[in-house]
Amino acid sequence: MAVAKLGVVYTPREVTVPMVELALAPLVAGKSPAQIEQLRICDFSIGEGAFLVEIVRYLAAAHGGRDAARVIAAHCIHGADTDTASVATSRATLEALAGAPLPTLAHHLRTGDSLALEWPQFDAVLGNPPYIRQERLSLTTKHALRSFASYDGVADLYIYFIELAHRLTRAGGRYCVVVPQKWLTAAYARPLRTFLEREARIDLIDVDPDAFPAHDAFPIIISGTPTPTSHPARGEPWHRDSIRDAATIQRWEQRFPALGDTLTPARGVVTGCNRAFVIDRATRDRILDDAHIRPFLKGRDIRPYRPEYNDRYILLMERGCDLPDAIARYLAPMRAELEPGWGRKPGRYRWYELQDPVGAHAKSHAPRLFYQDIQTSPACCLDTSGLVPDTTVWTLNTDDEFLLALLNSKLYAWYARRRFPPALNGAVRPKLEYMRRLPIAQPAPDLRARIIANPELIHEAYDVSGSLIT
Ligand SMILES: C[S@@+](CC[C@H](N)C(=O)[O-])C[C@H]1O[C@@H](n2cnc3c(N)ncnc32)[C@H](O)[C@@H]1O
Repeated sequence: MAVAKLGVVYTPREVTVPMVELALAPLVAGKSPAQIEQLRICDFSIGEGAFLVEIVRYLAAAHGGRDAARVIAAHCIHGADTDTASVATSRATLEALAGAPLPTLAHHLRTGDSLALEWPQFDAVLGNPPYIRQERLSLTTKHALRSFASYDGVADLYIYFIELAHRLTRAGGRYCVVVPQKWLTAAYARPLRTFLEREARIDLIDVDPDAFPAHDAFPIIISGTPTPTSHPARGEPWHRDSIRDAATIQRWEQRFPALGDTLTPARGVVTGCNRAFVIDRATRDRILDDAHIRPFLKGRDIRPYRPEYNDRYILLMERGCDLPDAIARYLAPMRAELEPGWGRKPGRYRWYELQDPVGAHAKSHAPRLFYQDIQTSPACCLDTSGLVPDTTVWTLNTDDEFLLALLNSKLYAWYARRRFPPALNGAVRPKLEYMRRLPIAQPAPDLRARIIANPELIHEAYDVSGSLIT
């Protein structure tokens, strides 16, 4: 396995081999060698040919004839890649496998953008599409993507390849692609989910998390067949729950308001250059400017219930602020790094101001709840001392102690593992769109008081046994 340029992660055999079998076994069952030679299989982002090689091996074995690998590679294999060198490598690899030159591959393996090429339909489409975040897509590409049913302005490129796999597969054919699992729940994939709910039968298959080492895409395999349905399609998140967990969460969602009904989690401060704006006590004592200096909290300082404040400070230089002499003297040597568009993001702010506008909750002196943006276990703290959170912290503008108990509980961890996107090493990311949906129980005052005194009782507010939530 190698990780090379943008969006390129080659697929290991332990993933390609079962995917090829999954897609092709139903297509070769009961077929004669001559019928197998008629099959047309496509990989729309061939890379160095990881799938193509396995497709040839699989079909050649099913064919069983002399010279089967050459016949299959010459007739059945199609694909494309934007990268000329990848196409050349794939062709050379297939020729080595076939033991002969394969002139047809000059037409069957094309260099180009698979989302724009003219394609016929295929018996099967397999692949591992490029994963490229929308910020890195050109305006021309984004414009072209508008013709997809799954278009969403902030969707990653792989979303369109899923729809393409579907569209390139003939009725009765199969597609099998390995993609990051974010699309199952992300808001930007709602149009894709709606499309698939209406047009396909889909099976989702887990991939061993270690199959793609040093990569945090959390892949999943989509095995699909074009099958138009008449179900109402709404594109709601697709969760992979046990029946018991699905019923429990659905019950909570029906009975309780969601966190987002009353609160909006807000991100902490983005300085654009922590080296300049985050200072220690000695520097603070030197600058001595109470109007602009505030104690500063990072996500890693958050502990359950209480912050473990580490005596660091932020120069809270907001848009339009004045520049006192002492701060000017301190920041001046770093000026080149601080200029917008040079050291920091381009924008309409001055070199001594923080990069992004500071949100009202971040600079508030009111008591607030803070939680980490990546959580290995629940950790939410109540701050009553006017700490300013950094960008790895989410803020809730409330001092609700029941919510504090909930966000530190096993019950929350149980929910988070089932509803929040995964991060490395078993952590989760309570991103805004997911946290807003968290059901907040509304216990009667006496139970509420008992839970605040003894948070272990939180499951009583959610009407489940303590043993469910482990
Ligand atoms: C994740 S790699 C997968 C390669 C190969 N299918 C495999 O599994 O090993 C994605 C490949 O997509 C190619 N690619 C990127 N954008 C593309 C596009 N618009 N059309 C076709 N291929 C593209 C990259 O050059 C890269 O080779």
